[in-house]
Amino acid sequence: MANASAIGIHDLSFATTEFVLPHTALAEYNGTDIGKYHKGIGQLSMSVPAADEDIVTLGAAAAAPIIARHGSDGIRTVVFATESSIDQAKAAGVYVHSLLGLPSATRVVELKQACYGATAALQFAIGLVHRDPAQRVLVIASDVSKYELDSPGEATQGAAAVAMLVSADPALVRIEEPSGVFTADVMDFWRPNYRDAALVDGQESITAYLQAVEGSWKDYTEQGGRPLDDFAAFCYHQPFTKMAYKAHRHLLNVTGHDTDDDRVTRDLGLTTAYNTVIGNSYTASVYLGLAALLDQADDLTGKAVAFLSYGSGSVAEFFAGTVVPGYREHLRTEAHREAIDRRKAVDYARYRELHERSFPADGGDHPTPAETTGAFRLAALRGHKRIYETR
Ligand code: HMG
Repeated sequence: MANASAIGIHDLSFATTEFVLPHTALAEYNGTDIGKYHKGIGQLSMSVPAADEDIVTLGAAAAAPIIARHGSDGIRTVVFATESSIDQAKAAGVYVHSLLGLPSATRVVELKQACYGATAALQFAIGLVHRDPAQRVLVIASDVSKYELDSPGEATQGAAAVAMLVSADPALVRIEEPSGVFTADVMDFWRPNYRDAALVDGQESITAYLQAVEGSWKDYTEQGGRPLDDFAAFCYHQPFTKMAYKAHRHLLNVTGHDTDDDRVTRDLGLTTAYNTVIGNSYTASVYLGLAALLDQADDLTGKAVAFLSYGSGSVAEFFAGTVVPGYREHLRTEAHREAIDRRKAVDYARYRELHERSFPADGGDHPTPAETTGAFRLAALRGHKRIYETR
């Protein structure tokens, strides 16, 4: 019988896009000093989806290796978290369920609360496994981050999907009780249904994020959480990697700790390696931070890792995980590096063309150019229906 009190992340895999835009190309186009991107916001490049990629193809690409390794036995629930949803009614996870050939005896649902959605999905998954420890839940966080061209947000775009198998006796990270939670009704970042690109008040969003760090930490301690010095590392939501540094300095400050650069870098430096070259992947971002940490740290066995998940609007959660002995045998470090290295660099003009693409809303037959070399592609929009292909 599996241990119902030890539940967490059994496997983790991510996928990103076919193309990448280096920030040098953006800086050259808009005349920005590259120091602002490389140092000021901490971004080197951003993932750009091909015309035939979307949250479904990315989500399927992230989850396929998990199904290949573990099979689908015991997976009765798929939770798909996204804020770049493709349909107001149908869950994107239903397409992924079909592309992966999962059994019909599965419930599939989509969750949304900006970048926080994947953490809600993780907590729901833990609740389901707690009820029946024989079950496993597939959590997929998949997003394409899109801001207006020529806006300040443009430099903080990106796209990726993280898939996690949540189970009892997990091989990677046990997720602990309690959580610290926080909600505040703020308009820092939002995307009305009629818009493709998000609206954002940049400085307001940074302030709202910092307030949420403080609020969720306060609740975490009131709920009896660990002291700050227990943590070996901190995985923050990273809309741009410099934000994790701002957030951690703020947390150290409000808890009366020194905020010297060495400490901050030691606490979170390893978590930024994937986000700095992928860009904002919204729901996936905090778990890309975890992937980068596990893939690079010397040995975290038995260590406590802190998570701060933030979603504009806003909802945040501070919680902890413990790294499981033997975890390194289950990592996908090489596949993760390959997902990043396989991307082809595009120039600014090509990126702009891809950014401006949208499907006509006339219900006609609109095939997409075959651009991605990945296993799944969005082949067409036909009669208002998305048509996917597996290679
Ligand atoms: P901006 O106005 O282009 O940039 O907006 P800035 O003038 O604030 O400069 C950015 C930093 O670069 C500053 O550093 C400058 O000093 C520095 P800071 O003062 O912050 O430490 N800088 C330089 N450094 C070195 N060399 C130079 C140089 N020039 C300037 N030459 C902003 C930046 C991030 C606001 C913008 O890109 C934006 O609006 N992004 C989108 C919003 C966002 O990412 N917000 C983050 C918090 S909200 C969040 O995380 C939720 C979110 O993921 C969505 C969700 O939950 O769904 C967004």
